[in-house]
Amino acid sequence: VTNNVPQATDNSFIKKLQSSGRSLIVFYGSQTGTGEEFASRIAKEGTKYGMKGMVADPEECDMEELTRLKEIKNSLAVFCLATYGEGDPTDNAMDFFEWLHNGNADLTGLRYAVFGLGNKTYEHYNEVAIKVDKKMEELGATRVFELGLGDDDANIEDDFITWKDKFWPAVCEYFNIESTGDDVSIRQYKLTEHTDFDVDKIFTGEVARINSFKNQRPPFDAKNPFLSAIKVNRELHTSGDRSCAHIEFDIEGSKMRYEAGDHVGVFPENNVELVNKIGELLNVNLDIVFTLTNTDEDSSKKHPFPCPCSYRTALTYYLDITSNPRTHVLKELAEYASDPKEQEMLKLMASTSPEGKQLYSKWISENNRNIIHILEDLPSVKIAIDHLCELLPRLQPRYYSISSSPKLYPTTVHITVVKVEYMTPTNRLIKGVATSWLATKIPNEESPPKVPIFIRKSQFRLPTRVQVPILMIGPGTGFAPFRGFIQERDLYVKEGRTVGETILYYGCRKKTEDFIYKEELNEYVKNNNLKIHYAFSRDQEAKLYVTHLLTENANELWRIIGENNGHLYVCGDARNMAKDVHNIVLKVVQEKGNMSETEAITYVKKMESQKRYSADVWS
Ligand code: FAD
Ligand code: 2AM
Repeated sequence: VTNNVPQATDNSFIKKLQSSGRSLIVFYGSQTGTGEEFASRIAKEGTKYGMKGMVADPEECDMEELTRLKEIKNSLAVFCLATYGEGDPTDNAMDFFEWLHNGNADLTGLRYAVFGLGNKTYEHYNEVAIKVDKKMEELGATRVFELGLGDDDANIEDDFITWKDKFWPAVCEYFNIESTGDDVSIRQYKLTEHTDFDVDKIFTGEVARINSFKNQRPPFDAKNPFLSAIKVNRELHTSGDRSCAHIEFDIEGSKMRYEAGDHVGVFPENNVELVNKIGELLNVNLDIVFTLTNTDEDSSKKHPFPCPCSYRTALTYYLDITSNPRTHVLKELAEYASDPKEQEMLKLMASTSPEGKQLYSKWISENNRNIIHILEDLPSVKIAIDHLCELLPRLQPRYYSISSSPKLYPTTVHITVVKVEYMTPTNRLIKGVATSWLATKIPNEESPPKVPIFIRKSQFRLPTRVQVPILMIGPGTGFAPFRGFIQERDLYVKEGRTVGETILYYGCRKKTEDFIYKEELNEYVKNNNLKIHYAFSRDQEAKLYVTHLLTENANELWRIIGENNGHLYVCGDARNMAKDVHNIVLKVVQEKGNMSETEAITYVKKMESQKRYSADVWS
């Protein structure tokens, strides 16, 4: 814009609310789409209470307008905010969070409520939502309903609907409104099926930009992934019925850089048979090309995923067809059931009654039913395919800890992947989306298989000074990033530099089964650059874990972290192992460092903030 005339800013949510006669705005801080989905469910339900709502991305809004929201009669701001990592907001909520937290805006008169999305396996459970809820009140805003916290490690859907069920009556009471009672199901998107189209203008699985796979242009990132050729894909297990693959992605010419400790994101495809099965069950031609367009013209999200595309493309690349569907999906499915019994059952599971929740928990969660299983087991449910596409969440990229160092492998990225495969209680074999798909990507000379990837920077880093000693704890695939660390430290030794002690706690089930990277490790040990404590958990009667060995070697642990200012790293299972390690470290600090429990906690917190204690864990 070159003239000086002030531009009508479309980041004014107040204007949008006013021009469309709305009073409810639901902001989301979302990384994988769940927060956004929850936000849109609340906004949609507002209609039932005479509160027309809209969903908003804080990144696209002038959030300072919150100070003026009270100008709109009966206005309410709801926040669905996820917490990640070390208590961090999602990327899209970062600026808002900082503005709110560090500022002193006057929020008097603003009415609000917060629902948080978190995971109890992690230390900073729901910190973002907790902080926002508190800070809003401190800045003068009025909390209309108490903070809700969702735990993704248990049943976040249950937490959400339970909260929502009490939230609405509180809102009605506050604003003195009555429910219109109409539980109308409104479609958010309008369908167009195309008969006449230009093949070059149809999405075929691209993440954002059309033809971005044919016509690759850096910079590559999560919205513009690099199509990488798989150079190596080999089995690491030597026996047993599980599988773990060592995969090497070619990144030559991509201009993508990485460091040991970073993650690689992989966009997987859903299994062809599962996709076809949906076509069969709903009796539709999956090659029809269609577009879903948002009926809310004020929404910045025009389509739920890249459109136009075929139903096959949507079900293969864009939609999550293997997770347990949430209750609002079941509610919509019920509308299509021609068998009254099936309809009843779906309605019950979608309700918040104790029987309904119990049935959902058993029939959906415990039995691990996905949309395909539901359509199979409730055959009268013939949902319109476009409606299903509207309801299912987006298929997410999978992350892997990079298991190589760019100092040795500047043009390849290595990963170490355990194949997910298990039976459900209804005797169905489930194959992990990404891991089973990657297993089919076997390289050949003529045309190597290509996979869309991107690099995600992490905080998991070797100390900058190579003399600093390090202690790494990584059972199973938790070894992945340490392979990169070890490669790098070994290189420094070969260069003649003085490298600090390098200690690894390594764990697997059996020496003869899942002892991954055994030969490499033996080489490093032979070169005298690495000390390894091995825990083979199933080679003897009693379980032997890395945590048992760590407890035994308390003196060594304290020598590294307490006496020599070394770095401690833990990688792998967040649920048990990383927590156990944390407790052991606290205990050792207390005992060997002669500290009280409180002092030990402070000591460990300081280690974390100084990046001397880092975790790369997943559940
Ligand atoms: P999905 O189709 O996503 O299925 C996995 C889901 O199935 C699980 O979340 C769980 O809910 C369920 N499930 C799995 N087993 C069972 C069971 N026995 N019973 C019931 N339900 C079950 N993985 C690695 O292998 N190596 C790594 O280095 C690695 N690094 C990671 C780093 C980060 C930061 C994160 C977040 C994750 C990492 N993961 C790693 C995990 C990885 O991202 C995927 O989650 C994993 O590969 C499974 O993907 P999938 O698509 O095959 O399985
Ligand atoms: P298990 O499967 O025999 O119980 C990699 O998964 C290795 O980590 C396996 O040997 C596994 O043992 C072990 N493991 C399981 N739970 C653990 C925990 N809480 N702490 C440390 N290691 C654990």
